Amino acid sequence: MSKRIFLKKWFANPFRMGSIIPSTSSVGKCFAKNINLNKDGFIIEVGSGTGTVTESLIKHGVPEEKIICFEIDNEFCSVLAKKFPKAKVLNRDILHIDDILVELGIDTINSFVSTLPLISLGAEKSTQIMKLFARFVDSGVDYLQMSYSPFFKKKSKKYGLNANKCGYILNNFPPAYLYLCNNT
Ligand SMILES: C[S@@+](CC[C@H](N)C(=O)[O-])C[C@H]1O[C@@H](n2cnc3c(N)ncnc32)[C@H](O)[C@@H]1O
Repeated sequence: MSKRIFLKKWFANPFRMGSIIPSTSSVGKCFAKNINLNKDGFIIEVGSGTGTVTESLIKHGVPEEKIICFEIDNEFCSVLAKKFPKAKVLNRDILHIDDILVELGIDTINSFVSTLPLISLGAEKSTQIMKLFARFVDSGVDYLQMSYSPFFKKKSKKYGLNANKCGYILNNFPPAYLYLCNNT
């Protein structure tokens, strides 16, 4: 079911989706390993899709009520809201995060967990998103990004981010790197 809806969305909007199938649970496991749960605040998952990463984050120790899913596709959001009733599911573009945090009265974020397809989103959108992440990292938020590219570290430098490879997930199609950016 999750694979079918994903494929349908890919045909409708390949650049926004960036992948024809959902990530495997190994991606969520690797993200979970790199989240510092001793830090306060919400874990913001960016581009949750059908929730395979979300499910795996929860399975590997991230409390569901600490998760906020940003997902631009409303059909995916209905799926997510049913699967994760304790998480906050927001059918919004991550670029609107500042207004949303004010609306929700949230001032502490632990980390961003992103599977956004930064390359296929296009240069302009990707630049806006990277600048946004860099601003939050400056203020102490961790930023974890899954990427199929071994050149993410170099790309992220342009935005003042220091990305360190913290995982490689062979059990995914395509295999993916995980990068952690923080201000330490
Ligand atoms: C590569 S898919 C990842 C889906 C899921 N996390 C997974 O790993 O299977 C990227 C997701 O990001 C969402 N997305 C793209 N641009 C977005 C944006 N600006 N804000 C929020 N979500 C976005 C897409 O709708 C899509 O569901």
